[in-house]
This record gives sequence, structure tokens and C-alpha cells, in this order.
Amino acid sequence: MTRIPHESSGEPNPLRALGLDRLRRRTSMKWRTYPDDVLPLWVAEMDVPLAEPVVRAVGDALALGDTGYPAGSGYAEALAAFAAKRWGWHALAVERTAIVPDVMLGVVEMLKLVTGPGDPVVVNPPVYPPFFQFVEHMDRRIAEAPLGADGRLDLDVLETAYRRAVAGGGRAAHLLCSPHNPTGTVHTAAELAAVAALADRYGVRVVADEIHAPLTAGGVDFVPYLSVPGADSGLSLMSASKAWNLAGLKAALAVAGPAAEA
Ligand SMILES: Cc1ncc(COP(=O)(O)O)c(C=O)c1O
Repeated sequence: MTRIPHESSGEPNPLRALGLDRLRRRTSMKWRTYPDDVLPLWVAEMDVPLAEPVVRAVGDALALGDTGYPAGSGYAEALAAFAAKRWGWHALAVERTAIVPDVMLGVVEMLKLVTGPGDPVVVNPPVYPPFFQFVEHMDRRIAEAPLGADGRLDLDVLETAYRRAVAGGGRAAHLLCSPHNPTGTVHTAAELAAVAALADRYGVRVVADEIHAPLTAGGVDFVPYLSVPGADSGLSLMSASKAWNLAGLKAALAVAGPAAEA
């Protein structure tokens, strides 16, 4: 849950903790792609200090030279504990996870497992534009099922897209953005269960990009796709990159549902 303290609360506002001078020393895309008077708002990088435990953990690892190939399942265990505490989801199976460099490469690998060249991938525009670029770059075909006028999933439109997607006889997938970027829509448990039921009926494999899961506003509950009834064959991609501003560290996690086979 993210809450920026109001100026009058007396709590320090993390958005004011770093001055422009320090931010301009950053070498990331947001600060180096354009001339000084342009700040690209489409880059999801936060102008706040990193959380202290993150600084400590990364600093300790660097000081030790502990940057070799990761062993064990510490990252997945940390996510499982977070998922239980934050979302009340106690069923994240650590043994069904794999570290992937980042969410989009994880998406590509998951789509490779569940579809073949030329097969359709359903997306819900308006949606994170790289969904189109990555899917088309890997020789899959985009099938659009636009969000409704209310910015939510339109289940009738989705069903039509699923029906058409499987009509050709290939294997179809649905790249679900949950929470949705750019609308910020947080899909409800009922909506996600309806997606799972449709996917099951039509034999469409759902790959849920849940990168923004820890960033919902106060009072809005994120529901992990794999936690809803009927989503057992789904695949999820999670990452600390958005919520903790760690995109450069390249550490995302692919999570397979209990019945997810390639
Ligand atoms: C919905 C969504 N998916 C994926 C990404 C990119 O994630 P990654 O850098 O881990 O590939 C972003 C970045 O903002 C995003 O908004």
C-alpha cells in the first residue's frame, strides 16, 4: 500500500528527500535519455531514496563481492512471505518459481512455453505498449480485446477474442496486465475468476503480468491471479522492480500455477 505523506502531516515526504542535483547524477534512462529540460514521464522510475533495508542488502552483497549466480530460493521465499502478509495468499509455491531477468523477458519465455510461432496473444488495450512490441517480435500475433468504457475488462469482448483466437486451431494465450497499466484498474477477484473460467473453457493460457501488484492505493485489494478459483494453469510474473524502484537490478520471478504445464 503506497501513501505519500501530506505536507501538513509532519512526516517527511520521500518525493522531496532527493534534490534535483542528486537526481541528475543518476545514470538511468529517465535522467540520461533526453536533454536536461525534458523528463520522460513514461519511464517508471521513482524520484525517492531506496528503502533502507534494500540499500543495506545490496550494499552488503557488493561489499562482499557476493554477485555470483544465485543459489537457493531466498528470493521466491521472500515473495511468498510478502504475498501471504500483503495479499493473504498463502499458496505461492516456491518450487514452482523461476528467477527471470525482468518481467518482459519472463513474459516472452512464458509465451514461448504456451504458444507457438504465429499463435495469437490476447491483450487488453489500452495497455503497456511494449506488450505489442515484445509479442510481435517473438512471431506471435496480437489479438485485441479492448477494456470497456469504464476502464475494466469487458468479459463479452474477451470471450469473443478467445473464441476467435482458438478458432484457427493454434495455441492461444492471454497476456493479462494486473493491475492494469496505464489505467491503474485493479481487477477484482470476481473478474479474475471469470477470466480463469473463460480461459479454461476456450483452452487459452493466461500469463499475468503482476509487476504493479504491491502498488495499489490504500483500501484497494490486489488479487493474485493464481489465487482465484480455476486459475491453476495460469502463469504469473512478479517483480520488486516497480514498487521498490529496482528496475536496474533485473530480478523478476515467474510463478507457475499448480496445474501449469508447458
Ligand atoms: C505492466 C508492465 N510490465 C512490465 C514492465 C517492465 O518490467 P521489466 O523492466 O521488469 O521488464 C513495466 C514497466 O513499467 C510495466 O509497466
